[in-house]
Amino acid sequence: MSGLELAPGVRMPALGFGVFQVSPEDTQAAVEAALTAGYRHIDTAAAYRNEAGVGAGLRASGLPRDEVFVTTKLRNGEQGRDRARAAAGRSLEALGLDRVDLYLIHWPSPARGLYVETWETFIALRDEGLVRAIGVSNFLPEHLAAIDASGVAPAVNQIESHPTFQQPATVAASLERGIIVEAYSPLGQGRDLEADAVAAAATAHGATPAQAVLAWHLQRGRVVIPKTVNPARMRENLAATELTLDEAQLAAIDALDTSRRIGADPATAEFSQMDIARPR
Ligand SMILES: NC(=O)c1ccc[n+]([C@@H]2O[C@H](COP(=O)([O-])OP(=O)(O)OC[C@H]3O[C@@H](n4cnc5c(N)ncnc54)[C@H](OP(=O)(O)O)[C@@H]3O)[C@@H](O)[C@H]2O)c1
Repeated sequence: MSGLELAPGVRMPALGFGVFQVSPEDTQAAVEAALTAGYRHIDTAAAYRNEAGVGAGLRASGLPRDEVFVTTKLRNGEQGRDRARAAAGRSLEALGLDRVDLYLIHWPSPARGLYVETWETFIALRDEGLVRAIGVSNFLPEHLAAIDASGVAPAVNQIESHPTFQQPATVAASLERGIIVEAYSPLGQGRDLEADAVAAAATAHGATPAQAVLAWHLQRGRVVIPKTVNPARMRENLAATELTLDEAQLAAIDALDTSRRIGADPATAEFSQMDIARPR
């Protein structure tokens, strides 16, 4: 599968498997099924409370550690130098790993005023080898600008991105800094699959709507992390890497943007309900 180089020797497969809203008790089986289907990139977060299931799934697969790319994320309430450092340790412990491949600040949570200090801590964690690459999630252009002074650009900005919500300003601010854009909710949580342009592209290639949307993201240079608990859909989504849409089909999907997000607005989202580390 195609991959992107985040740092020397750190290769991120362009299509990964997301486990948001997979219950902690179902996560091991979902991750094992995804790895059996051929995924080699898993996206979790401390706030999803399923890092332990991700680690268990990885171990049960028997795959060598260096064959699977693992991302996790720092909770909003654990921002700040000391808390972030402690939280990174807890995530590694829950995952049962010595280090993760990519560690993201989950949300800027601007009202807390801690994301710049947290980014500096992330740089230190990377330099110490606890994480191989560092990035951000839900960072708008102003949040990216605020961490420019650190002199280290995030490897990745993981943002909500799907046909009806494409965030061109945030994509541009990311790309001009050399930051890879990673699309979360890439299928619009399933809601963008019925658009005519998606159906037309899918039909033209004998593909499914989900495959057409995922191929569109990949051809536009974005990493994607679709979520499903259904093994047949896991295989279906992974096979999107074999599909190539033509420029007219890509442009027709580009034209579906309505600027309406499904998820929270990073300018105001604080998610205080996800702040406290709970037993896993
Ligand atoms: N950084 C952040 O703040 C953030 C926020 C949200 C999500 N994420 C990440 O992004 C990942 C994916 O986002 P998401 O779960 O919000 O949305 P998504 O991947 O766009 O959509 C998931 C939904 O689409 C359905 N689906 C999956 N494959 C399908 C297919 N081939 N055909 C039809 N329906 C299909 C799934 O149902 P079934 O499960 O029933 O198949 C599920 O209801 C998450 O798991 C998480 O890792 C990150």
